[in-house]
This record gives sequence, C-alpha cells and structure tokens, in this order.
Amino acid sequence: MHSRIAGTGRYLPARVVTNDEIAQRVATSDEWIRTRTGIAQRHIAAEGEQTSDLALAAAREALAAASIAPADVDLIIVATTTPDMIFPSTSCLLQAKLGARGGPAFDVQAVCSGFVYALAVADKMVASGAVRNALVVGAEIYSRILDWSDRGTCVLFGDGAGAVVLVPSPDPGILSTHLHADGHYSGILCVPGQVRNGSVAGTPFVHMDGQGVFKFAVRVLAEVANEALSANRMTATDIDWLIPHQANLRIMDATAKKLGLPAERVVSTVDAHANTSAASIPLALDVAVRDGRIRSGQHLMLLAVGGGFTWGSVLLRW
Ligand code: UT7
Repeated sequence: MHSRIAGTGRYLPARVVTNDEIAQRVATSDEWIRTRTGIAQRHIAAEGEQTSDLALAAAREALAAASIAPADVDLIIVATTTPDMIFPSTSCLLQAKLGARGGPAFDVQAVCSGFVYALAVADKMVASGAVRNALVVGAEIYSRILDWSDRGTCVLFGDGAGAVVLVPSPDPGILSTHLHADGHYSGILCVPGQVRNGSVAGTPFVHMDGQGVFKFAVRVLAEVANEALSANRMTATDIDWLIPHQANLRIMDATAKKLGLPAERVVSTVDAHANTSAASIPLALDVAVRDGRIRSGQHLMLLAVGGGFTWGSVLLRW
C-alpha cells in the first residue's frame, strides 16, 4: 500500500504588509528586499488569530477537496514553530476545532522543514494501514517571533497555513521521503529564548546568520534532491514541478540551477507570501494545484531546509 494526496488547502491572514510599509519602520527599501529576496509583500495575522485558526481554515479547504468530513479525520500532524501555547499541541487544538476526536494528533517541530518531516511521517502511517487518513498542516505566525526593529530578519517572514490530506492508495502517490538533520548548526538560525519561572529567559526573537543560512541551504537542497532522484532512478528532467521551501528567490534559483532545472518548473510564491516557514511548501503546492499548473501523472519534488539544521525531500506522482 502507498499514500497519495487527495486534497490541498491554504489560508492567508487578510492583512497584507508591503515592503514600503516595513520601510517606514526600519532602514530598508522595497528595492533592497525585492532584489535580495524576491519578496514583495507578506500576510500578517490579526491580534486575535492563533496558529490553530490559520491551520483550521487551511484544513477545512483540504478536507473539502478530498471529500472527507472533518469529523472523519484520523491522524493530524501540525508542523509549526509558533504553536498557540507550550502545550497542548496545536494539533490537539486543531482536532477539537474540526470536531474530530480519537485519532492521534501531534506537532512536528523541524522549523522550515516541518511540513516535509510531517508528510514523511504521515506517509508511513497511512501506507502501513496504521491510520485511515491523515491531515498534515504547516501553520505559522512568525510575525510574533520577529524583532520588528531588526531589518536583517523582519523583512523576510510572513504568516499563513497550508494543508494536505493523505489517503491510502494502491499506487503511489508518494514515491520517497528523505529526512536529515545536523544539530551542530543550531546557532545560525534560532529563537534562543526559553520560558522559565514565569518569564522568558534569553531573546524570544529570530536570530539568523543570513549568509551562513544561504550557503548551507543551497548545498543541502541540491544534495537531498539528488538523493531522491537516484533512489527513484530518475533524473532532474523527470521532475515537472520543483516546490522548494519559499525562503528566498535567490536560494530557490540557485538550487534549480544546480539541478539543471529551468526556472519555469519551479513553483514560487515567495513574492506574495514571503517565508512562512513550515507553511511555505503546502501554500505553494495549493496555489499551483488550484491554478491548474499541477496535473495528474506529473512528478513533484518538495524540498525543505530549516533551523536545526533540518532538511529533506518528498518525491511524489500527482
Ligand atoms: O528559512 C530560512 C530562513 N533564512 C533565509 O532564507 C535567509 C538566507 N539568507 C538570505 O536570504 C540573505 O543572506 C539575506 C537576504 C538575509 C541578506 O542578504 P545578503 O546579500 O546576504 O546581505 P548581507 O547580510 O551581506 O548584508 C549586506 C548589507 C549589510 O550592510 P553593510 O554591512 O554592507 O553596510 C546589511 O546591514 O545589507 C544590509 N542589510 C539591509 N539593508 C537594507 C541587511 N538587511 C537589510 C535590509 N535592508 N532589510
């Protein structure tokens, strides 16, 4: 048995913040942000919105597309770095909001690789028959862990959620998953703050060595893509759509170039969404599914890299 994606969905908060608006607060410019990152705008959650609310809206769309009633969801995995609370998990909160109960629900914390990690775990559980179906969501509210006076980080991120529903299938579906981590690089991208004795010890904001992240990301994205291709005896020409983590257009372009893939075969939403961490891949996937670019029988390569460091791939046939 295998698993396949039966539906996708997305949700973006209503408020759009342009580069020009950020340039009114910190010393930056629309031109600098666009040329260095490809980002033009980002969505920012409203004060009262929680990560589970974003996840709920994306999940409802994905479940409707898969023709599965919310109460019939079995496994729920939410990939997030910005949970509603320390515990319970955002997955349990989402399960209650969906009106489902009884199936397993847990969060995956692999930062920007979280969705690929969660999809890999869900694939194994659906394909083995351990669960009837799985809802996999990437949902983030990074705007709350950004130092809005730090121009090196605040221009890069946005809020949003993307979701997929996995069902069992006699044919793949998901062809392979490859996951990696190297904790020795934890210092170049982190939020080092810790809740302790009633307050936050250390900084609760994103800390990043931009160039260190850039170099690491381009190297491991190409490596893990080639690992997936050789495991499936495929070459880059077999890939119809590359859907990389939407961190930065230059990272995405450099990865496609290393793989020998033309830019037209890369799904890019970073201009409109910015970097939404674990939500970025399912958001981009849903955009390309709903606008008709992704068609039955095509091969998709999902590629992720994020804090930890973590990285991984999911290769699938649509
Ligand atoms: O999920 C992974 C998340 N992280 C990433 O994707 C980040 C990966 N890294 C990058 O995308 C790039 O390193 C950045 C976009 C963050 C920075 O681009 P860069 O070409 O590596 O710039 P830099 O860090 O070398 O900085 C060049 C200059 C510096 O000024 P000086 O020292 O040359 O005077 C920075 O202070 O640009 C300055 N700078 C800015 N200027 C205007 C840094 N941020 C900004 C800004 N606006 N927002």
